[in-house]
Amino acid sequence: MPRYFIWTIGCQMNKAESQRIAGYLDSAGYEAATSFADADIVVLNTCVIRQSAESKVLGTLGLLKGLKIKHTNLKILITGCFVDSDMEGLKRRFPHVDFLFRPGDFSELISWSHEQGVPFVQGASLPAAFSPCAFIPIIQGCDNFCSYCIVPYRRGREVSRPLGEIICEVKELAKRGIKEVTLLGQNVDSYGHNLPGHPDLADLLNELSSVDELARVRFLTNHPKDISLKLLESIASLNKVCEHLELPVQAGDDDILRAMRRGYTVERYRELVHTVRHKVPQISLSTDIIVGFPGETEEQFEHTLSLLEEMKFDVVHIAAYSPRAGTIAWREYRDDVPLEFKKERLNKVETLQSGISSQINSQLQGRQMEVLVEGSKKGKWFGRTRSDKLVFFEDNANRFGQLVQVKIGKTSPWALQGEVVDNGNSQNRT
Ligand code: 5AD
Ligand code: SF4
Repeated sequence: MPRYFIWTIGCQMNKAESQRIAGYLDSAGYEAATSFADADIVVLNTCVIRQSAESKVLGTLGLLKGLKIKHTNLKILITGCFVDSDMEGLKRRFPHVDFLFRPGDFSELISWSHEQGVPFVQGASLPAAFSPCAFIPIIQGCDNFCSYCIVPYRRGREVSRPLGEIICEVKELAKRGIKEVTLLGQNVDSYGHNLPGHPDLADLLNELSSVDELARVRFLTNHPKDISLKLLESIASLNKVCEHLELPVQAGDDDILRAMRRGYTVERYRELVHTVRHKVPQISLSTDIIVGFPGETEEQFEHTLSLLEEMKFDVVHIAAYSPRAGTIAWREYRDDVPLEFKKERLNKVETLQSGISSQINSQLQGRQMEVLVEGSKKGKWFGRTRSDKLVFFEDNANRFGQLVQVKIGKTSPWALQGEVVDNGNSQNRT
């Protein structure tokens, strides 16, 4: 049997698309390999959000060049945000790559497989059930053009998948044992704007709530300028919709937010968080922060620290600004915050946030929480609560894919430890 190996870096969207590609390869009779070295077909699903990610892609492409000299029949495919509109230029730069396709452009991939005489079966792309959780892209692309971000240039304009198609897919997955779906988009608040009848994310959540076998629905990422009251009400009222939001703020200073072209002020963001917490008191919140954006002064950075202190997010994803060729910030501003300042600011945010997360999580000690078990690691089962907290526990029974009630013991800023209380299936919203 021919074998495939898929190398994935980057966001959840890439992970979802890799699951799909694996589905196509399975349908064509391939089997998963454990490394590049024993694969006949290699797919690189790439990310270029920051230079560090792009460098990893270039390093891996270099490695594969060597491998292809030894293994001449090896087919190398590239997708993800490394693939820009200049396909011909990329082919010239990387002649050892057999096929490139834009992120999410599966029709191109299927045509290529037909040309190769190993046709992938359309519609056979449902992820294999190695996990009770599946990622479902609902909207591709982004129309926002935040000044630092390369994504709109690589993933193109927003295109929503028809509501009926998503519901069919989720129903099929639920029949196959999937208990939780995460709906994905760069900006899920734009979902449906360009579809007939203009359904929105709240409508989709409402429909998905009636899929019997499904226990949980999540979605990411929201945009603070677009999230609606209707959506917050859906989270509050629909039992299956989990109480967690990814709400990237990026910075805590109005001038920086303006230069980033985020479309909101600190005050508006603050009011939004108050509204969210008022409507859904159990909500857990994650955010993204970029430190060292061009021109960011020490004082402006302090504003970000104060906002983090005030908001008390559950999780903060932190990145140092990385100029991306072609973006507005790259054209208009000099990357003038020295690397050592960026590192220092990154550390300051990390230290502050680990204290906050540690405090928030320690309050969960003694609480009983519902965990959906995703797998086991080092003799412990692990899974997530509705609020997206990672929980580990020991148990001799096979708990894979079950909803289990766990009493929380030890906590850290990143994870919780606990023990099973009963065999679960309760709708306890914690
Ligand atoms: N430099 C640093 N971080 C970036 N992000 C996006 N573009 C850049 C960049 N050029 C971060 C943002 C975004 C997350 C996915 O990646 O915080 O929310
Ligand atoms: Fe990038 Fe902004 Fe779109 Fe997010 S909303 S993908 S940060 S342009």
